[in-house]
Amino acid sequence: MATIGMTLTQFLLEEQRCVPHSKGSFTSLFTDLVVAAKIISREVNKAGLIDILGAAGFDNVQGEEVQKLDILANDTIVKTMEQGGHLAAMASEEVEDIIPINKRYPRGKYLLLFDPLDGSSNIDVNISVGTIFSILKCDTDHEATVEDFLQAGVSQVCAGYVLYGSSTMFVYSTGHGTHGFTLDPSVGEFLLSHENIKIPDDGQIYSANEANAEEWYPGTQKYVKGLKDRSRAYKGRYVGSLVSDFHRNLLRGGIFLYPADRKTPAGKLRLLYEANPLSMLVEQAGGAASTGTERIMEITPTSLHQRTSLVIGSKNDVEEAESMWTDAEGK
Ligand code: AHG
Ligand code: MN
Ligand code: MN
Repeated sequence: MATIGMTLTQFLLEEQRCVPHSKGSFTSLFTDLVVAAKIISREVNKAGLIDILGAAGFDNVQGEEVQKLDILANDTIVKTMEQGGHLAAMASEEVEDIIPINKRYPRGKYLLLFDPLDGSSNIDVNISVGTIFSILKCDTDHEATVEDFLQAGVSQVCAGYVLYGSSTMFVYSTGHGTHGFTLDPSVGEFLLSHENIKIPDDGQIYSANEANAEEWYPGTQKYVKGLKDRSRAYKGRYVGSLVSDFHRNLLRGGIFLYPADRKTPAGKLRLLYEANPLSMLVEQAGGAASTGTERIMEITPTSLHQRTSLVIGSKNDVEEAESMWTDAEGK
């Protein structure tokens, strides 16, 4: 029986007891991930004091300027997770190819995909950033390959994020609801603070980078324009950090849009380690996630870093956006 204030580890063990014949491998993997989250939280929260601010001086596989904290978060997750012996391989936004498990450690049956630091352009200006992760099964005996990662979002066994904000929160789902835990730094534990989060069916917030509006397809422009109709009380909220924008809308209700447009016809956000995990969380909370025309979690990926259009949040808002959606030709 879950009680507010119980630790994430206790909550996990309760969940494990509901899984017959569970050997605790997943719980152990997850516990390692929680350690990585605490380490990154410590580094993020003192970023202003030590030399990890600013750019690392090179671009990543996405062609984006890498921040030192991106690298620190990435390396923290890789080092913490590979020792546990529960993973067959990992994939990171910051690394072109899949990350094999060092031969000195046993290989496991799970795949971990992650965006080590989301919203990293906000690091130096003290706006909340996050880590997003997705866990898949890898039931093969061969060495994991990229193909093993190319599973639709419905195959995720777990998804979640860590939000390094005014407090550090850990939000995750294993398919039995979406639950939030808040770090109590005085004891170093994540404590249950938001059990079984439900996103309101209708929101009053929309989040989009309107600087792109000229490039949006007609259906997107029509939908967003409609939200500004004075008879509707929608507010615009956009911080440029997906985890922050998503988390606020998850709790308050609302819709986040990063649509494909004339400038970015494939969309900007990554399917495997941004859109899929957040889609699992929002669906478990009663919301919806779509490209504008297709359910995110039913997309069969074709490459590790593929991008997607993303429309995610309150069920009725996403459905309304889908009802108006068009492609470049307005069809
Ligand atoms: P990341 O820092 O992992 O590259 O992600 C940045 C993403 C996402 O966090 C945010 O919603 C979006 O980029 C903001 O993009 P714009 O600056 O183009 O609005
Ligand atoms: Mn990101
Ligand atoms: Mn990132």
